[in-house]
Amino acid sequence: MNIDGGVNDAREEALTAEVVRSFAAADPRLKEILSALVTHLHAFIREVRLTPEEWSAGIDFLAQAGHITDDRRQEFILLSDVLGASMQTVTVNAPPNPAATESTVLGPFFADGSPLAANGEDIARGAPGSPCWVELAIRSESGDPVRGARVEVWGAGDDGLYDVQRSGEVMANRAHFFTGGDGLVRFWGILPSAYPIPDDGPVGRLLAATGRSEMRPAHLHFLVSADGFAPLVTHLFVSGDRYLTTDAVFGVRPSLVVDFQEHGADEEAPGGRTIAGPWYSMNHEFVLVNEDGA
Ligand SMILES: [Fe+2]
Repeated sequence: MNIDGGVNDAREEALTAEVVRSFAAADPRLKEILSALVTHLHAFIREVRLTPEEWSAGIDFLAQAGHITDDRRQEFILLSDVLGASMQTVTVNAPPNPAATESTVLGPFFADGSPLAANGEDIARGAPGSPCWVELAIRSESGDPVRGARVEVWGAGDDGLYDVQRSGEVMANRAHFFTGGDGLVRFWGILPSAYPIPDDGPVGRLLAATGRSEMRPAHLHFLVSADGFAPLVTHLFVSGDRYLTTDAVFGVRPSLVVDFQEHGADEEAPGGRTIAGPWYSMNHEFVLVNEDGA
């Protein structure tokens, strides 16, 4: 690991072991997590032969992430997202059952307290963008409709912003539904648009320094929970989006890419609605698996 003939190797290994031993009295899970964290962190420092200046730059980076974080801006989730840590956590916790709809990241824009909506409602509430009719079927692995599922939906407008990023307190293009016996959710929302993750902070500088895109491909977010089933956190992505292969947060699963159909203004819209311009529609089935993931 270094070239000094082993003196430093022995000191470095002894230090790691000493820190790991310091957790001996901790709760078993906490001990496991901290011991592995320290072991990997020390191995990283030793592998790259981290200099004091680089260590200091890392500390400054984390401090800046803290300073820009507030109730509406969560830079640490963004950092986790762009390092793939969020998606790896999703991946290790996903139900092992291949029948389950695949999971992806929650992202930083979920908000508690979304309005309850009824089937057929328009949840856009002034969010800018083209109207999009969404139909979802919530099914069990055996194909039965799931009654009483809570379905949270949230998405950006075509300005690339979520309601929580705009001034004011209006929750727009965000709602939750409960399924009835047919397991269906239907609503008017906004056609998803690709958007940049907030890039005016340290995470944006990290992306710029590494020549990476700050863009996320167009998507809608969903969180589905129902008694007896494993909760599902996922997105649906718009097929054909130019950023599907360069998602800044590595969240795309091919099974979550779906077609959004374009309709002319002269086509009758669901609910007898009259729409001035083109509108869109999408339908998809979510498959929930049992609580134990089986
Ligand atoms: Fe998003």
